[in-house]
Amino acid sequence: MNKKIVFVFAVACLLAFTLKVKLDARKQLDAAKAHLEKNLVDYTDVTRFPRNTAPDGKLRAIPSNDWTSGFYSGNLWYMYEYTKDKKWEEAARKWTAGLEKEKFNTRTHDLGFMLYCSFGNGYRLTNDPAYKEIMIQGAKSLSTRFNAKTGTIRSWDHGKWQFPVIIDNMMNLELLFWATKVTGDSSFYKVAVTHANTTMKNHFRADNSSYHVVDYDTITGKVVARVTHQGYADESAWARGQAWGLYGYTVAYRETRDQKYLDLAVKIADFYLNHPHLPKDKVPYWDFNAPAIPNEERDASAAAIAASGMLELSGYVRNGQPFKKAAEDILISLSSDAYLAKAGTNNNFVLKHSVGHKPAKSEIDTPLVYADYYYIEALLRYDRMSKNNTK
Ligand code: GLY
Repeated sequence: MNKKIVFVFAVACLLAFTLKVKLDARKQLDAAKAHLEKNLVDYTDVTRFPRNTAPDGKLRAIPSNDWTSGFYSGNLWYMYEYTKDKKWEEAARKWTAGLEKEKFNTRTHDLGFMLYCSFGNGYRLTNDPAYKEIMIQGAKSLSTRFNAKTGTIRSWDHGKWQFPVIIDNMMNLELLFWATKVTGDSSFYKVAVTHANTTMKNHFRADNSSYHVVDYDTITGKVVARVTHQGYADESAWARGQAWGLYGYTVAYRETRDQKYLDLAVKIADFYLNHPHLPKDKVPYWDFNAPAIPNEERDASAAAIAASGMLELSGYVRNGQPFKKAAEDILISLSSDAYLAKAGTNNNFVLKHSVGHKPAKSEIDTPLVYADYYYIEALLRYDRMSKNNTK
């Protein structure tokens, strides 16, 4: 064959391949929008918030005190950010209002998830002073759970533990960092930094994976046990826990510029990306050490959280390109038919195939509202980075 034709063909193949695998964030945001738009019509009880698909196949919604209650309005706020269309602001406000009473909730560490993803995005986009006051009160409630002896915020009031702290708790610190910025009261910041330091010391293994639960003795402040609750085993690496840690320490670096947080975030990302059990599409099994891999469920939520975290992380390290590329790979996978639901299916959730709590036989291979939240957030971040042409 003519050498020139072979060359043109090779270039065309390469181009086709490149175009095929490129992420079109706005196209994917439009797909997410279609799901959310339909759900605004299909599901209208603003006192109960979409969380997942129940075993009977129907949408399962939860009250405002559930840890996932803020993600749905967060998704609507992200749509407002994406479209600038007031109809999304109106919808987001309607779905945010029912969360206000949680600002006085001192029975959970999840106020960051519940209030910052909802009111936090709302405040960022509208500057509504009422939202600010609600979040400041929320930060005060969250701070009541800090114990100076253990140096941590207590995660749960339920369970068999004395003073349980879970890696997920790193995600609730953003609300505290924010509260210091808007009030000038450094006590929130101190609580957040102390919690991050103690967690760094006690939650991580030599390979940079993290335990799910660390239980503390409140008299001595010492660690009593390192165990799991939602992972496969005490010594395993629960996938979403790794993603929470990666994202949480990236935020801790953003808010403090303390290099040790950035170093840890990079190590967690490396653990995730270099793990021999990470599938080619970079969407992890629900636990990196799940016993029946490759016949185990994937967790799209862990992938979405990790992708969003890696995009932010990529902007802080000297050569962030590999993290940006890895996040892009994850988002391409999540945007494929394997994970992205077709319009009008999946109870109008965007992504399929997450795992909530397999050991409790709960939420196995289901859509989860927070998988959608971090997927949409990551797409917005990616879109912004592409426009700014940042690394
Ligand atoms: N924060 C609870 C979970 O990740 O399932």
